[in-house]
Amino acid sequence: MSSYGDVLAWADARLNNGAQARRLLEDAAGRSITWLLAHADDLAPDDLRPQIEDWVQRIQWGEPEAYVTGVTHFWKLRLRVTPDVLVPRPDTETLVELALGLGGAQPQRVVDLGTGSGAIALSLAMEKPTWQIVGTDASEGALDVARRNALDCALSGVRWYSGDWYQALDQMRFDGIVSNPPYVAADDPALSDDVLKYEPQGAVIAADDGLADLKTIIGQAPDYLNARGWLAVEHGYQQAEPVRALFEAAGFVDVGCKRDLGDHPRVTFGRLR
Ligand SMILES: C[S@@+](CC[C@H](N)C(=O)[O-])C[C@H]1O[C@@H](n2cnc3c(N)ncnc32)[C@H](O)[C@@H]1O
Repeated sequence: MSSYGDVLAWADARLNNGAQARRLLEDAAGRSITWLLAHADDLAPDDLRPQIEDWVQRIQWGEPEAYVTGVTHFWKLRLRVTPDVLVPRPDTETLVELALGLGGAQPQRVVDLGTGSGAIALSLAMEKPTWQIVGTDASEGALDVARRNALDCALSGVRWYSGDWYQALDQMRFDGIVSNPPYVAADDPALSDDVLKYEPQGAVIAADDGLADLKTIIGQAPDYLNARGWLAVEHGYQQAEPVRALFEAAGFVDVGCKRDLGDHPRVTFGRLR
């Protein structure tokens, strides 16, 4: 029999990471850390300690925390994640922030290409209730996760379509396109990173030095945008120059690049005339 305080102290000692230990306890107990600390001496349910022991062991073996607990936080949302989706990264919030600014105050129709967990589409829907948001993905497993997140976040106005990039959209046209596509080259040493090893490779790796999907998305964007429509894409920090050239070749103007939280050039954007 352990108290909540005992379980927290055990996890903290094993992980040597107090913040992570607190997050695990919150997710396993379904209680806020404020409640847990106020009830530190109460006896925890019998299954809590074995659950935390299992999670700590999996994390120590290298499994990403979000896949272990099935939950992550992005923007202001609590999102479910499964191995069918990439774990949304804090850096991608730079793309959300930029898209909100590009869209401005007017109602917009915006598509998130390669939505995964729905992180970008749902963040935009939460911030802009007047926008019509569409999310697409080639993976049915990912779209199931996105649909479930939409229900959990009470953002059921977002529409989801399945298919290979623009093929999912038929004849639709948009005021804005946003995408965080796969952009890691197959021989990138970053792929030995523990987290990337667990993630769906189709969400991470792209042919042509990581540029193949960016080429498709940028090159075909004008066919799916209204006049003055905008496009914003996330890419690797060494891809800013080739991506700018792709925007210019596709006819975009006012092309710019925003830096991520680590001060790397990671999000390129532009507008049609
Ligand atoms: C880097 S992940 C981004 C996921 C999510 N938007 C995010 O930022 O966390 C790329 C997503 O693109 C999807 N994808 C890969 N190839 C695709 C294709 N040909 N057509 C549509 N989606 C594709 C993957 O399934 C994956 O969900």
